[in-house]
Amino acid sequence: MNTETLLLTRGEVESLIQMKDAIEVMKKVFAQHQEGRTKSYPRVHIPFDQYNGSIGYMEAAVDSLESSVSKIASLYHENPKKGLPRIIAIITLNRINDGLPVAIMDGNFLTMLRTGAVGALAAEYLSKKDSETVGIIGAGVQGRGQLWGITEVRNIKKVKVYDVSIESSRKFAKEASKFGVEAETVDTPEGVKNCDIVAAATPAKLPIVTRKVVSEGTHVTSVGVGAGLGKKEVDYMLIKESKTIVDDLEVAKADSLSEAFKTGVLTDSDIYGTLGELVCGSKKGRTGDEITIFVSAGMAIQDVAVASVVYQNAVKRNVGRKFNFFA
Ligand SMILES: NC(=O)c1ccc[n+]([C@@H]2O[C@H](COP(=O)([O-])OP(=O)(O)OC[C@H]3O[C@@H](n4cnc5c(N)ncnc54)[C@H](O)[C@@H]3O)[C@@H](O)[C@H]2O)c1
Repeated sequence: MNTETLLLTRGEVESLIQMKDAIEVMKKVFAQHQEGRTKSYPRVHIPFDQYNGSIGYMEAAVDSLESSVSKIASLYHENPKKGLPRIIAIITLNRINDGLPVAIMDGNFLTMLRTGAVGALAAEYLSKKDSETVGIIGAGVQGRGQLWGITEVRNIKKVKVYDVSIESSRKFAKEASKFGVEAETVDTPEGVKNCDIVAAATPAKLPIVTRKVVSEGTHVTSVGVGAGLGKKEVDYMLIKESKTIVDDLEVAKADSLSEAFKTGVLTDSDIYGTLGELVCGSKKGRTGDEITIFVSAGMAIQDVAVASVVYQNAVKRNVGRKFNFFA
């Protein structure tokens, strides 16, 4: 019996999966999540305030992929000063029939990819089919992933970029050409008004995405709402008044939107549905000129989806180093 574990670097992971593969597998996994064929657990954050950091643990399994994942992602704000990445994520992929850790791989690129892929799915079901303009708020790693995902599902011609750091906006705008879009930096969040799609990806502790930033018919994806970490980039009242979907209602109530639910600002009836319901067709996506919002808390089933594709391709193409823990 082969008891080897495949070790995969970031460069190898990047060579083994594309955004379109991630979107395809994500659609299947969210459909299965909707049908109760996944196992998903609340994420755990261990804070290390003395080091201005925390380590997060995310676990899930997907029956059809016969795999489970444990992702360890640390967030240390002082790391860049030491020449270390601010976020360090590692994914362990286990085979569920015997528990063997079949692969351990870099998780930074995959986190961006899988978060971009759910943004793409939300855009596919909720944005206008003829969407041509995207507004990015937060020109960092996830902002790039969102633009990449959206350009896979809509024929985007122009992106407007807003970031508190003008340097970051400019860098993002320069890189946007690789997605075949024209880019413009804007000086305020309101600068993205009238964009067909707005994607927000910031750690902002005060709402930036308000009614002033969106127009009738705009679709918004937000990946930076995390009440446990105090992140609130979208105005709760906008969420209440819009057609809002989440990745999973229980996860949203316990995680991304927990504060709004605890204080009663939001109740179950303010959430239109889930990504799984859109994918399965039990809830309709866009029907007219409504404002739609997808609030992504981020789930480890997304990591199972992309890590499984990476592992299967690595085996097929003989990529990675084999390591035997039992030697
Ligand atoms: N939902 C998910 O699955 C998921 C996954 C990964 C990361 N995230 C979250 O996405 C967010 C972005 O993460 P990242 O890895 O891209 O970080 P990053 O540091 O690479 O980028 C964040 C960007 O936001 C900008 N920013 C900060 N405050 C802002 C504000 N008020 N207005 C405009 N821009 C602002 C920063 O200057 C930076 O350029 C974080 O909140 C992170 O926790 C969510």
